[in-house]
Amino acid sequence: MKDTPMSEAVSLEMKEIAQRLEAANLAYHRDDAPEIDDAEYDALKARLLELEAQHPDLKDADTPTEKVGAPLAAGFGKITHKIPMLSLGNAFEEDDVSRFVAQIRAVSRDAMLTAEPKIDGLSLALRYENGALVSAATRGDGAVGEDVTANARTITDIPQRLTGAPEVLEVRGEVFMSHDDFEALNARAAKNGTKSFANPRNAAAGSMRQLDASITAERKLSFFAYAWGDMSEPLAATQSESIARLAELGFRVNPLMRRFQPVAEAGKSLVAQLIDYHKEVALARAELGYDIDGIVYKVDDIATQIALGFRSTTPRWAVAHKFAAERAWTRLEAIEIQ
Ligand code: IVH
Repeated sequence: MKDTPMSEAVSLEMKEIAQRLEAANLAYHRDDAPEIDDAEYDALKARLLELEAQHPDLKDADTPTEKVGAPLAAGFGKITHKIPMLSLGNAFEEDDVSRFVAQIRAVSRDAMLTAEPKIDGLSLALRYENGALVSAATRGDGAVGEDVTANARTITDIPQRLTGAPEVLEVRGEVFMSHDDFEALNARAAKNGTKSFANPRNAAAGSMRQLDASITAERKLSFFAYAWGDMSEPLAATQSESIARLAELGFRVNPLMRRFQPVAEAGKSLVAQLIDYHKEVALARAELGYDIDGIVYKVDDIATQIALGFRSTTPRWAVAHKFAAERAWTRLEAIEIQ
């Protein structure tokens, strides 16, 4: 197709957003020093996704919408994920949740869903062999992560040994810093005249990605298990039972996780139940003692998860329903065509 001024303008806008997203990814994932807030990032990404859907011919083969995380920081060993560590698609409005549920129900009419908080931290993959923790990796670019094994060993929520686990078990979850530990850390920094952290997520990521594990050990980090990767045998047939099994093995799991039936006794639709849960947790958010930035809905039955599968970087069987406060409107400055 011959380029028209219109498609030139669209192409320029797409390039500009892609550049801003790439810069934001490096600042956030590699440098633990975000330059734009999450809401602005989500808005830019949503706009690029929209333009890519409208103009597939203008989509860059290297687009940030199909990438996870960022290139690895220097200094760390590398760990290749046997199963890629992907991202989650976002839902912002009730309509987005309805569409997500409809897509699932088209494949499995009676699918049950789970809902749980989306923890605002740093994702981590823990590999256990014969019950012993052998490695811990950050998500990195999704395919290869940073080796942070020594650092993970300093976190008390992460068991060093498991009894009764599959021979190989990779547990995935989120490292985070509680509000109390974050305030204590910044108070110490103020007293010692050292650098303070902007928020608990940066503090957790900055503490985890230390080449000297004795620095990580001085910071109090926490860990919730919420998923798994490579495994010699399945944990269970459903998401909720798998999480219960991880809890039995000694992992800390989120107590707010709930499971929802297609239609409750009260006659509420599945979407209505999810939206009510989202509202309830949003109201309790300030009291949780740690940062969350939305709710993650997941298909409970693992065979149905497998049937639904993945897009390039996100599962079709799960979605992150962001909280309203995490959203922002972003407008690009006018693009002038020379
Ligand atoms: S499930 C295929 N559950 O959100 C991905 N992720 O934006 C399955 N996250 O990379 C992930 N809380 O680091 C899942 N309860 C939760 C989560 C959660 C936080 C993070 C995770 C993921 C990112 C996606």
